[in-house]
Amino acid sequence: MFKENTEMQDTHVCENTKGNIYKPELMIIRDIIDETPDTQTFRLQFKDPAVAERFTFKAGQFAEYSVFGEGECTFCIASSPTRMEYIECSYKHYGKVTSAMRRMNVGDVIGLRGPYGNWFPIDEMKGKNIVFISGGIGLAPVRCITWNVLDLRDQFKDITIVYGARSVNDLVYKSELDEWQAMPDVKTVVTVDPGGETPDWKGEIGFVPTIVEKVAPKGDNTVAIVCGPPIMIKYTLPVLQKLGFKDENIITTLENRMKCGLGKCGRCNIGSVYVCKDGPVFNYAQIKELPDEF
Ligand code: FES
Repeated sequence: MFKENTEMQDTHVCENTKGNIYKPELMIIRDIIDETPDTQTFRLQFKDPAVAERFTFKAGQFAEYSVFGEGECTFCIASSPTRMEYIECSYKHYGKVTSAMRRMNVGDVIGLRGPYGNWFPIDEMKGKNIVFISGGIGLAPVRCITWNVLDLRDQFKDITIVYGARSVNDLVYKSELDEWQAMPDVKTVVTVDPGGETPDWKGEIGFVPTIVEKVAPKGDNTVAIVCGPPIMIKYTLPVLQKLGFKDENIITTLENRMKCGLGKCGRCNIGSVYVCKDGPVFNYAQIKELPDEF
């Protein structure tokens, strides 16, 4: 998960008055969706219509979200750039800033600066089969690129979605999972870990890598977007390799270690690589080149 940045708050307020690069845009919370007992989605709209008009981003980019007086948090933009009426972010409650976000209400104002980072190579993905694989809250960045692809459906070949969570209660974006499952030209498989099912659960039961092996998407001319807990990624990679996926066609997004988002604080770099500037999107061939601590 992303790290909270409570140290930024003093700088943030001070810099804001100078109108510098740390200045956030103001966004109004238009809706709050309870995804799970500890995860919420904020639907945000720019307070200034002129800012909304000029704001653009690409699927895979992230932003710094601020709760004034509390600090900042880094989250991916979870909504699609094909749907610009709102910007959405999803977050888990785990610290000071996210706890403050938890106490916010519809109509409250939050800060956003960004977008930052690189993005999923959607133009290169066109004309190919796409497999989206995610676990838990890792669906947030995958949801962004998934809707982006689905909104341009005729430019892609076969689309497969595999999503898993520890339990039925931990599944996020439930109504959208239903929507994807109802699409005739998309294969969507939703799974929960063994023991996480409810009596009325009709989806799969099993860990994500096992389900990917069962679904067996062909690796030829296919791009896999993978995001989720490290353990899920660790066991999914060999499955994809066995299915014939090239390292360059296995793409993930690294989301931790962020602070400034601007390549300035040095918090996110490993060797010469800055996750905030060179990433957060990397393919597996690039990740293999990174130092071991990655
Ligand atoms: S987050 Fe500060 S340098 Fe990357």
